Amino acid sequence: MSIKTRKPSTEVRRTVAVEAPTSEDPDEPDRRPVTLRTLVRMVDRGEKFACLTCYDATTARWLQRAGIPVLLVGDTAAEMILGHPSTIHAPLDFLITLTAAVKRGAPNTHVMADMPFMSYQADPAEGVHNAGRFMTEGRADSVKIEVDGSFRGLVERMSRAGIPVVAHIGCRPQQVKRSGGYSVAGRTATEARQMVADAAAFEDAGAVMLLVEAAPNEVSERITEKVGIPVIGCGAGAACHGQIVVLQDLLGLTEWQPSFARPVASFGDEIMKAAGCWSEQVRTSDLGEHPYKMRDGESGKI
Ligand code: KIV
Repeated sequence: MSIKTRKPSTEVRRTVAVEAPTSEDPDEPDRRPVTLRTLVRMVDRGEKFACLTCYDATTARWLQRAGIPVLLVGDTAAEMILGHPSTIHAPLDFLITLTAAVKRGAPNTHVMADMPFMSYQADPAEGVHNAGRFMTEGRADSVKIEVDGSFRGLVERMSRAGIPVVAHIGCRPQQVKRSGGYSVAGRTATEARQMVADAAAFEDAGAVMLLVEAAPNEVSERITEKVGIPVIGCGAGAACHGQIVVLQDLLGLTEWQPSFARPVASFGDEIMKAAGCWSEQVRTSDLGEHPYKMRDGESGKI
C-alpha cells in the first residue's frame, strides 16, 4: 500500500504543504531544500533514503554534496565528540550549537536534532520549550525524542506548538542505565504489537516521522504497513523507508560497530597516514616556501 493511500496524517500533510522554492546554498543554487514533503514524495515513489549522523559544519557540507537528504545531530555526539561512555551525557546547549553548525554547513538538507536526556522527560512544558530552542537557535527541521506510548501527550503538545516531531521507538539508548544495557526491541509478539500500536498512536498525535532502533524485520514491516509517515530504521531491517547509521561507524573511525553499520571506508587509517606524513614534514623541515615576508627594508632593522 502506498503511503498516499494509507490513512493520511493530517498533521504531516499540513506541515509539508509548503516547500521553499529556492536553495539557500550559494554553492548549489539549483538544489531545492529537502523538506518533509520531499521525503514523503520519496516514500511514495518507493525511493529509499539514506540518513547519517553529523556533528559539524565541514562534514555536513560534504554530506550534502554527496546527496544525503537527512542529517541527524544525534545525542551520540556525547560518545563521538565528547568521548563519554553513553548518550545520556550530551549537554542541551552543546547539541543546539552543533545543530546550528550542521545546518549552516548543509542548508539544503533536512537537519534533525536529537533532544538529549532530561531535556524533555521531566516536564512537558520544558520539553516544548527546549524543542523550540532547537528550531529557532539550532535551525532544526525536526526534533527527535526517544519515547514509548506514555509520551503520546508530549508529542501532541509539541505538534500543536508547530514542532515537527520524530518519535524514536524500539531500543532507546537514553534508557540504558535503567535497562542495564542495549537490547533488541520487539522480539516477542506482545512487545511487537505494542511497538506497532505506539507507532500508530504517535502518528495520530502528530509525529512527522518515526525512527525505529534495533528491531526485527517483521516489526518494521508491520509498522510501515500501518502508518502513513516516513519510517527511518537504525538496525530495524529493510522495510523501513530510510536508514540511518552513525557516520563514524560508516567511516571506520570507531573501535566497534553494530553489525548493521559495517564500515565502508578506513578513515582511521587515513588519519594515521596523514598525521604520519605531517610528522615527517615537520621532522625534516619540509615545509615548502614560507608564505609570510617582512616588508621591504625591514628585515635589516631587527
Ligand atoms: O543519536 C543518534 O545517533 C541516534 C541514531 C543512532 C539513531 O539516535
